[in-house]
Amino acid sequence: MRVGFIGDIVGKPGRSMLEQYLKKIRKEYELDFVIANGENASHGFGLGTLHAKELFSYGADILTGGNHSWDKKEIIPLLEVMPILRPLNYPIGVPGRGVSVVDVKGEKIAIVNIMGHYGMPMVENPFLTAQKVVDELHAEDVKTIIIDFHAEVTSEKYAILHLLKGKVSAILGTHTHVGTDDLLIDTGTCYVSDVGLSGARDGVIGMDKDAPLKRFLTGLPASLEIPKKCKKILQMVIMEIEEGKCIEAYKLRIFDDQERLLARAVHEK
Ligand SMILES: [Fe+2]
Repeated sequence: MRVGFIGDIVGKPGRSMLEQYLKKIRKEYELDFVIANGENASHGFGLGTLHAKELFSYGADILTGGNHSWDKKEIIPLLEVMPILRPLNYPIGVPGRGVSVVDVKGEKIAIVNIMGHYGMPMVENPFLTAQKVVDELHAEDVKTIIIDFHAEVTSEKYAILHLLKGKVSAILGTHTHVGTDDLLIDTGTCYVSDVGLSGARDGVIGMDKDAPLKRFLTGLPASLEIPKKCKKILQMVIMEIEEGKCIEAYKLRIFDDQERLLARAVHEK
């Protein structure tokens, strides 16, 4: 099975890159399933209902979330009924789901959304939560497990790789918006610290540069805005998975005004 994973989609520039390219990518790389992180898709903060539907119409099959899953209140009741995940390690009683098992070409695939600790809202231990859900999925004979690990620091991301390598098909980092070049496959687990944003590539992590600069130069508050005009990028990981093991992976970067880049994962021996 071939699965695509898109990191944080930031505002309209990100949505427009999916509109322009995702169907073509699905066809060209023969993708069976596409996961995308949608927590910043509506103006950089949260995911509104219309934008969720828009992303599904462009070719995303399921949307994952993170600390911004709650920013657009209208989406909260829909977390129970639409294929939209929020981090699994929010406490019991919080709306929505953090894991979904779907059928793709007669095979079960589990998508799990977990949030890290550092710099994030107080949630349950991500490592224990991940370990528990993976054990449960194995008990249900689900072999293909893809984790969106929404976390701030690379140390947590590498730690969860070492906890779960060989047990899951992929651990893909999101949240920092900056794509890292450490794509690898270790014991059948595809890993990258951060897939990186899809959206404006010439601002500050997808937002217009003026407000962050004002904040950093003066200490005064300034509202973050999506740039009206910008250079754009779409970043995604493409994985070939057999019997739950990732055997091949690529990082695809599409620029709106340059050649595309395709980097192959390093196999750890
Ligand atoms: Fe986030």
